[in-house]
Amino acid sequence: MKTVIKNGMIVTAAETYTADLLIDGGKIALIGMNLPADGAQVVDARGKYVLPGGIDVHTHLELPFGGTVSTDDFYTGHKAAAFGGTTSHIDFCIQGKGESLHQAVEKWHKKSDSKAVVDFGYHMAITDLTEDVMNEIPSMAKEGITTLKLFMAYKGLFQIDDTTLFKTLMKAAEAGMMVMVHAENGDVVDTLVKDALAKGNLTPEWHALTRPDWAEAEATMRAVALAGMAGAPLYVVHVTCAKAVDQIAYGRARGLNVMGETCVQYFFFTIDDLRRPDGAKWVCSPPVRTQADNEALWQAIANNSLQAVSTDHCPFFFDGTQEIEYEGQKIKIPGKELGAGNFSKIPNGLPVIEDRMLIMWSYGVGKGRISLNRMVEVCCTNPAKIFGMYPRKGTIVVGADADVVIWNPNMKKTVSPKSSHQRTDYNLFDGWELNGLPEKVYLRGNLLIDGDTWNGEPGGGSWIKRDAHAAVV
Ligand code: URP
Ligand code: ZN
Ligand code: ZN
Repeated sequence: MKTVIKNGMIVTAAETYTADLLIDGGKIALIGMNLPADGAQVVDARGKYVLPGGIDVHTHLELPFGGTVSTDDFYTGHKAAAFGGTTSHIDFCIQGKGESLHQAVEKWHKKSDSKAVVDFGYHMAITDLTEDVMNEIPSMAKEGITTLKLFMAYKGLFQIDDTTLFKTLMKAAEAGMMVMVHAENGDVVDTLVKDALAKGNLTPEWHALTRPDWAEAEATMRAVALAGMAGAPLYVVHVTCAKAVDQIAYGRARGLNVMGETCVQYFFFTIDDLRRPDGAKWVCSPPVRTQADNEALWQAIANNSLQAVSTDHCPFFFDGTQEIEYEGQKIKIPGKELGAGNFSKIPNGLPVIEDRMLIMWSYGVGKGRISLNRMVEVCCTNPAKIFGMYPRKGTIVVGADADVVIWNPNMKKTVSPKSSHQRTDYNLFDGWELNGLPEKVYLRGNLLIDGDTWNGEPGGGSWIKRDAHAAVV
């Protein structure tokens, strides 16, 4: 089925221009002026913007974590992503202790394949680096999982030591892969958490006070230096503060192939949100910090000290003792209430996958903090380049997958958990006004979202086999 999108303002990382766009066979087949309809369905996009589908490279769908499980699965999370203009994402496939990497991948495919609605890939999170696992790493790249994730925090659960990080970096360099790190000094955090608990400091703000920005900065610098010594590319996930940005900028200024992302929530929220009566809603790691850090992150995104904006989508219910209804079905999953009276037991993570592009549009571009082209670059194009999906995904070019969003600047909405498609009982941006929304969202030419109408089918999303030796931007 062919579609011609007529007279839209096409936006890429590099340019904005008015043209028609022909979708045929799931691909962008032609871009030009006055393209003939020629039996295609015609969509008038005059006065609207035509963007590449968003790519969220940091998500945790249906992740067992913090004594419960993140509440969006590969169907509900994908539906939410699509309503927010995101058509691809990369989830973290986490190796269990004693598991081979292939066993972990198999487990993740069981969760995802029959439910997926948008396209998705995996990063491989290594938690148990045995000799066998080391030897397995190159086969991951051949199979399209070209990134390895290591946690420098979560002591006793996911945390690895420097030997593991350094050996993995060396192996990645050999295999054309890239290492990603959650950079916080987990030993420091563990010590501070124990100390706070012993002193009876139990409220959610202590989540931030026991995870200082220096613990993030130190781990970031350590990872940057180890990557430099191993000659490997490095991507630092969820950067939250000025001090950590400085470490990445320092490495880049010395010619190292290091990059970093931040997540939408870190532009806006601070430790003051953790001090609210419902502060548990904002508990994520690393924590939300200060207004000065919010501003530093906007600057880092504008000046390319950071290269991507993702979400770290890992939703929990605020009150998991109460049912909510999702697509007519009642659902109840233990959530943030698990940490009532003890901040260290609050499941870490936030719901953001649907909000990312919407908030970047209205509060990034709309408030003059970044240009629309830069928004496309950090939310679509750079993620595709850095993670080996470009130019199949992440831009509007002939031959690319027709992952296309028609964005209507005149559609308005107030964010609320009721109108959001994330499967949880709250939204961080509750009450925020959105000026401009995705009106139509296509995935490989299929119209997933048409206004309020949802056409997505479980199983319609495809797994993305990614390329090794991807770009450093
Ligand atoms: O709080 C967070 N970020 N939860 C998800 C796991 C992680 O560290 O990314
Ligand atoms: Zn993390
Ligand atoms: Zn994460």
